[in-house]
Amino acid sequence: MPRGRFISFEGIDGAGKSTQHAWMVDHLRRQGRVVVATREPGGTPLGEKLRALLLAEPMHLETEALLMFAARREHVALVIEPALARGEWVVCDRFVDASFAYQGGGRGLDWSKLETLANWVLGDLQPDLTLIFDAPVAIAQQRLHAATSQPDRFEQEQSEFFERVRAAYLRIAQENSARVRLIDATQSPNDINKVLETIIATL
Ligand code: TMP
Repeated sequence: MPRGRFISFEGIDGAGKSTQHAWMVDHLRRQGRVVVATREPGGTPLGEKLRALLLAEPMHLETEALLMFAARREHVALVIEPALARGEWVVCDRFVDASFAYQGGGRGLDWSKLETLANWVLGDLQPDLTLIFDAPVAIAQQRLHAATSQPDRFEQEQSEFFERVRAAYLRIAQENSARVRLIDATQSPNDINKVLETIIATL
């Protein structure tokens, strides 16, 4: 059984990645692929409980990073690795790059601590393809406020926080050009669909 493919979706809150994640899942299913649509933090019963805590409870920044990686360990072991071994496609709304961008870039946690956690929790596992949806913070904030009446703990952060998260994502894109494609998220959803269709055809 050939191993499946693993695609992750990333970007600052409000960049529009979740809409595109749903489109990609439909697109791949229409092509006859077996797709596991999942997300982080979350993706397992325990991971979803950790998600609820992470999005609501104030906590120390290292606790936040450790809980993100605890949820990820469960997700990798119970969902992602078994699906890839069965030859399925895993399409994940956020993965490890979000920890580097938010806990590293946004909160200022040491990059090296995050690398230690990533080595421990992921081993050799990396997405085959990561799509980072990039938009200026002001545009993303506008979209977020239009779509969300009760912002969570991350969505309530100030613009400066999201500027740091965005800069970290841009750094990740630059340093991992073989794996990561940067998508201009200011385009219309239809135009983004076309870009994604072309990218996915080469995977
Ligand atoms: P969502 O907005 O994609 O549903 O994700 C929930 C929030 O969790 C989002 O604001 C980013 C944050 N997050 C991190 O801070 N670190 C992580 O490792 C992940 C996966 C998400």
